[in-house]
Amino acid sequence: MLDATLLDNFDAAGAVVHGLPGMAYTSDSFMQLEREQLFANHWVFVDYAHKLPKPGDAKPIEVAGLPLFLLRDQQGQIVAFHNVCRHRNLKLIDATGNCGKLIRCPYHSWSYDLCGVLRNAPYFGGHKDVRPPEFRYEDNGLVPINCEVWHDWIFVNLSPQPMVFDDFIAPIRRQLGRNEVTDYVPVATIDLGEVPCNWKLLMENFIEPYHVQFVHKSTTAQPLEDHYTVIDEHCLGSAVELSAEQVASAREGTLGVTSHYLTLFPNFVMGTYQPDQMGVHLNEPIAAALTRQQRVIYAHKDARYSDAKIEQLIELWRSVHLEDHAMCIRLQQGRYSPLATQGGLLSPHWENSVRKFQERVADAIRPALI
Ligand SMILES: [Fe+2]
Repeated sequence: MLDATLLDNFDAAGAVVHGLPGMAYTSDSFMQLEREQLFANHWVFVDYAHKLPKPGDAKPIEVAGLPLFLLRDQQGQIVAFHNVCRHRNLKLIDATGNCGKLIRCPYHSWSYDLCGVLRNAPYFGGHKDVRPPEFRYEDNGLVPINCEVWHDWIFVNLSPQPMVFDDFIAPIRRQLGRNEVTDYVPVATIDLGEVPCNWKLLMENFIEPYHVQFVHKSTTAQPLEDHYTVIDEHCLGSAVELSAEQVASAREGTLGVTSHYLTLFPNFVMGTYQPDQMGVHLNEPIAAALTRQQRVIYAHKDARYSDAKIEQLIELWRSVHLEDHAMCIRLQQGRYSPLATQGGLLSPHWENSVRKFQERVADAIRPALI
């Protein structure tokens, strides 16, 4: 039941606290609440700007269950619109591609320019260029969505009063310190496909460092005791600081460098790996138990990675993600147990950042619980 008692155990005070109940990961009703209460009111990470390089490049996306699309306009800016024709509300952009200078509805040929202005509605008034009385093109353009780009990362916000975008990215910029994201260029994409688990499990897994020593013992060389968690407003995650000796002694092909694992609530994920690498994951919620994931690898513009090095990184990161997926899929399966109604337990030391993530989810959906 999605009622006010759902979060009682989660809200109970104690030295060791519980996580969100299993239903928060398995229930379609909870997912719908998240769409309405959470994804419709936050800056949601939706894509990488370099994937839409030319004016007219468009891509359909879904946020909070709504059909939207991204577009690079004539001025080179990334913009977002509701993905529906104003005539009969047909979904306009059906696949990623270039639409040229006009977005044409295939049904009755209503056409919009790259600013979203309606330019043609042929025969709507009976004959080719006749408009019905009181019908004005300027009242029937595409409806824009708040859209911002931070370096290569596109965010949309469906709220009529969105958080100021600079305030949204401020805590992660603070955590990055002098590491300037604009110095990094994309060198590879890993399409990790659809993972049969709830989006929150992938986020929580990234946010906590507790599992790294156990799950990634063959792919990483980052001792747990050198980690700490990061809680800076809605920037949650962890970091590990390694000495020059530790870096030098890491096994060949493993990740053994100072790293920061940072998120912006709800779904932006960035890892930084000294001295010259970065990774950004896109986790797209599809259904309660299904999430699509990609990772883009970035290198510092002065690093000049060889093709062999990039191939090695793709292999390494694919292995690391698959190690995480194996755990997240089993976390999902465990959430159908009646035991999971209690929400499991969270380490007060290593999973306090996960707790903060879950509190943000709980706070978003709480007003809708009766
Ligand atoms: Fe992991």
